[in-house]
Amino acid sequence: MSYTITLHPSGHTYPCSADTPILKAGLDTGLFMPYSCRSGVCRTCRGRVVSGEVDYGGVHPNYLSDEDKAEGLALLCCAKPLGDLVVEVNELDPQDAIKSKFMPCRVLKMEPVSDDVMIVTLGLPMNEPTLFRAGQYLDILRPDGTRRSYSIANVPSNDGVRQVELHIRRMPGGKFTEHVFTAMKLREIHRIEMPLGSFFLREDSDAPIVMLASGTGFAPIKSLLEQTLQRGTRRPITVYWGGRTRADLYMASLAESWAATHDHITFIPVLSNATDACAWTGRTGFVHQAVMEDFPDMSGVQVYACGAPIMVESARHDFTTACRLPEDAFFADAFLSEADRNGLPQA
Ligand SMILES: Cc1cc2nc3c(=O)[nH]c(=O)nc-3n(C[C@H](O)[C@H](O)[C@H](O)COP(=O)(O)OP(=O)(O)OC[C@H]3O[C@@H](n4cnc5c(N)ncnc54)[C@H](O)[C@@H]3O)c2cc1C
Ligand code: FES
Repeated sequence: MSYTITLHPSGHTYPCSADTPILKAGLDTGLFMPYSCRSGVCRTCRGRVVSGEVDYGGVHPNYLSDEDKAEGLALLCCAKPLGDLVVEVNELDPQDAIKSKFMPCRVLKMEPVSDDVMIVTLGLPMNEPTLFRAGQYLDILRPDGTRRSYSIANVPSNDGVRQVELHIRRMPGGKFTEHVFTAMKLREIHRIEMPLGSFFLREDSDAPIVMLASGTGFAPIKSLLEQTLQRGTRRPITVYWGGRTRADLYMASLAESWAATHDHITFIPVLSNATDACAWTGRTGFVHQAVMEDFPDMSGVQVYACGAPIMVESARHDFTTACRLPEDAFFADAFLSEADRNGLPQA
């Protein structure tokens, strides 16, 4: 059974079968709606059902409450149509959409940069160009049918790229990252889907930019920032990078070099658990709180945040409630794991 979805206010329409999530059917037809986790947790894909009925797709009440449903809200990565629908959504320009593709890739390089972070370079097929937007992520498809998402840290090219760089943090007990740190071999072949997500720079604005990363959340921030340098963007950019200890800021010298060579870039590293061994004289505490100290009024800035779900959610909540950041000026990818998806609420 197929129904018609009409997006409001654009008026775009597309077919969607009763067993397909509304987001997936829209992306498959070339439209572009915001999304990140595609598993009913991050709420990036939230839309309002203006008319018609949906099956909410079993989203946990922490992420879609009964009050949300009463207001017509649904998470479009999970919700399926029960009839024709009109859905209000912050649609992105379909011209910005790059259709994701499945492809094989090969491990070309593995560089441990701290006790628990590995930079892995994957070689992509040479026969056709692989496109993505700075900030987007890819999925590694595991043999057991599960997926793991990783942000792409290098800069895209209009001609397509032949390699992607990933920053992977070891998660104790984690299926894929334990493999990366204990068994992964050079030339090993994996299957991936890319590019994914809507975390990329909104270039229709002159607003100063705050970039905010925790841990390996630095990966897409590196891609975004290096792309602004390539394009000669002059918007003021303040990059905050938070870690527990100095070792977590595994590319601090790169970020320092951006700031040292460009007047419009400021880099502020922040440690939450500095030890004597860190010999740290810089900022301390939670990274999003450092941003709030420096930007008590965020009404005129755009924020790009990436990394631990707790950091992303605290930043979204505190910036929009205490610092007047408009909700539509906050862009994020929360690095959700299976633990987050299986009932350990992030908010
Ligand atoms: C959009 C996006 C981008 C991301 N980008 C990055 C990135 O650039 N770099 C990065 O390091 N990470 C990134 N992540 C996180 C990444 O996708 C993985 O979740 C992470 O690497 C852990 O994978 P894993 O297979 O090792 O662990 P998993 O097997 O997923 O396990 C993770 C943790 O959960 C526990 N666990 C497993 N199953 C369950 C369960 N059923 N219930 C409760 N606990 C459970 C495990 O013991 C472990 O501690 C991103 C995530 C998203 C959504
Ligand atoms: S909740 Fe739908 S994309 Fe994350």
